[in-house]
Amino acid sequence: MKKKFYITTPIYYPSAEAHIGHAYCTTVCDILARYKRMRGVPTYFLTGTDEHGEKIQKKAQEKGVTPQQYVDEIADKFKQLWKAMRISNDDFIRTTEDRHTKVVQDIFTTLYNNDDIYLGKYEGWYCTPCESFWTDTQVGEEHLCPDCHRPVHRASEESYFFKTNKYLPQLLEYMDQNPKFILPLSRKNEMMNTFIKPGLNDLCVSRTSFDWGVQIRENPKHVIYVWMDALSNYITALGYGSDNQEKFKKFWEDPDCEIVHIVGADISRFHVIYWPMFLMGLNLRLPDRVFVHGLLDLNGEKMSKSRGNVINPVDLINRYGVDTVRWYLAREMTFGSDGKFTPELFVERINMDLANNYGNLINRTSSMIIKYFGGVVPELTAPLSEFDKKMKSLQDATVKLYESSMDDLKLTEGLACVMEYLNGANKYIEETTPWVLAKENRIDELKNVMCVLANAIVCASIMLKPALVESFDKVMKQFNVPEQLQNYENNVYSFCPLSGVQVTKESPLFPRLDKAIEVEFISSLSNKK
Ligand code: MSP
Repeated sequence: MKKKFYITTPIYYPSAEAHIGHAYCTTVCDILARYKRMRGVPTYFLTGTDEHGEKIQKKAQEKGVTPQQYVDEIADKFKQLWKAMRISNDDFIRTTEDRHTKVVQDIFTTLYNNDDIYLGKYEGWYCTPCESFWTDTQVGEEHLCPDCHRPVHRASEESYFFKTNKYLPQLLEYMDQNPKFILPLSRKNEMMNTFIKPGLNDLCVSRTSFDWGVQIRENPKHVIYVWMDALSNYITALGYGSDNQEKFKKFWEDPDCEIVHIVGADISRFHVIYWPMFLMGLNLRLPDRVFVHGLLDLNGEKMSKSRGNVINPVDLINRYGVDTVRWYLAREMTFGSDGKFTPELFVERINMDLANNYGNLINRTSSMIIKYFGGVVPELTAPLSEFDKKMKSLQDATVKLYESSMDDLKLTEGLACVMEYLNGANKYIEETTPWVLAKENRIDELKNVMCVLANAIVCASIMLKPALVESFDKVMKQFNVPEQLQNYENNVYSFCPLSGVQVTKESPLFPRLDKAIEVEFISSLSNKK
């Protein structure tokens, strides 16, 4: 395991408000970042907004505001959402900030002087009213603009191009030598077959048909076309090319920092092909991993604001609390595969994992400790029974699997194994039947059971802390866990370190949701325009 960790989300387009799809990616990154910090790994977590381009310029025009005013408002909403979702990003980069634009101009100059970029002509189908170029596939056989449906014509525009084939051999070598560069592995084949094998075109990196972008110093009628501008955020945010390069040295240049970009399948090729090539041109090291996550749809349909089928995560948070939403996103969708959001799945997942498993274990255990021992968690007193031993080995196995999964970015597996552990603890209650032990006055055995259960709850809560940020504090308070035993290393490797603390009775942490009522409520959210 490397000693430091740098994790990034894509920077989102502020062309519309954030929806649950954006929240998915950001939550996943947040959980991984919090996990690393919990393990004592110096971590930097970056997110932000990608604010240039023709689309944003047009939207601003439609609204009668300047592009800057337009993006300011939406970037603020993104920031508010991340706050509401308890996202622990260390920085929020906006591509309209000076610290970014100036360096992007320098990057362009470096690559141009390095003979990686040349001035050529961009050819395509042009729609005059929309001032947009389209590809063959976009205009179809009828040659109509996909936006306004008017006829398009062939046209060409002077543009700068990046020489992709110059760096292709080096990229292929890097991919071969680093088999985990693109994750999941299936995504690598997809990249090879769809984009690399058919032959790569040089990449157009400038435009003259609109001006909402970073101007090319050497030729100011051009703005840098959005991907070169956008991808550079991962290094400009660290201070690359600025007066203060401390963070850049620490989290990029140091080979002992693991650099991970998490991106949706829609933009993987830019991260896996072009971004490494730009970095090669700049003579910088490449990221360790590009993890491609699947896309989330809503009731089987692609989410889109214009169809009115987006869910704003804040509406869910207001009703169910932030942990519930974070949990659903991280747990329901296997990280790396496509997934869907449906009201039914949401309610089922929350009831199954949080209400019936985790929450129920907390309620049962705290009630029993209060009933049998006045709320004080007893010590292990009797020799360990078969069942106690089984819980001990389950804890050891869970901790191991949790760590290896999380370190390998297998987030869903990491969280699922903690749920299995909690299931095991619920089963342990049925196996040891504490009510019988109490009735038969087998107090020492009863003490063991209560001690094992309280400890399992605390140990699992620590492993769940990166995902369930608010509940963690509540559980620690309810079980009065001393500060040093809330620490990962101090807790999870020992069996039952916690005794003598006073447990209190609290209202259920995760009340069971009524399926019919909640499905109706959630369904009404996506119909709201
Ligand atoms: N601005 C570019 C990215 C530049 S990165 C240098 C962009 N922005 S975007 O707003 O369209 O956001 C793309 C990312 O948001 C996706 O790659 C994905 O991570 C996330 N998602 C957007 N919609 C999503 C779903 N429906 N489901 C899951 N993730 C989604 O592309």
